[in-house]
Amino acid sequence: MTLVAERPRTAHDLIAEGGPIRKKATFTSFEESTVEDWAAIEKYGAHEPSRVLELCLEHLDMLRAPDHVYPVDRYEHSLQTASRAWRDGHDDDDEMIAAALLHDIGDFFARENHGEFCAAILKPYVRPEVYWIVKYHEMFQGYHFFHHLGGNRNARESLRGHPHFEACRKFCDDYDQAAFDPNYDTMPLEAFMPALNRVFEKPLRQVNDRVQDD
Ligand SMILES: [Fe+2]
Ligand SMILES: [Fe+2]
Repeated sequence: MTLVAERPRTAHDLIAEGGPIRKKATFTSFEESTVEDWAAIEKYGAHEPSRVLELCLEHLDMLRAPDHVYPVDRYEHSLQTASRAWRDGHDDDDEMIAAALLHDIGDFFARENHGEFCAAILKPYVRPEVYWIVKYHEMFQGYHFFHHLGGNRNARESLRGHPHFEACRKFCDDYDQAAFDPNYDTMPLEAFMPALNRVFEKPLRQVNDRVQDD
């Protein structure tokens, strides 16, 4: 006879059983929380509508800058990056369009590592390749201008050989670094909204899933 260890009952089991679940957790520390507490949280707390897209769009809007020094402000740069990706065959790739549109939104919080900032927000919603592109886009982008600032334009070479290197190189070379043209026919935000809505509708995975992203 084979003995199978019994799996502990989880909050999801409790919800599936359909019995009464109180509306509020009662613990004062996670350490003393119970499976009944987590059933209450999962059932009544985990289904509030997400505001992630709304907040991302607010931050995108903050990239508007009437007194910008760049040839176009970072709001138009973001739309232009997405337009270039769209017209290069990513029109049916919602995750890449979301990445192209939002890749610079962390500039206010994390100027020096805004790629990591945005990648962390996108992580549950996009495939590992897109996450990686956003996370490392600053270093890859630097190939085109770091040398003008006394830096190493080849810094991205340290990541050559990574499975997503080529995708990130293409994103930066063809879309991101090229998206400062005031005469380009940039698409409006509305054109990208269906893709954005689909991406942020539901996370693809939980953040504590162990996925090889880095
Ligand atoms: Fe950037
Ligand atoms: Fe950019």
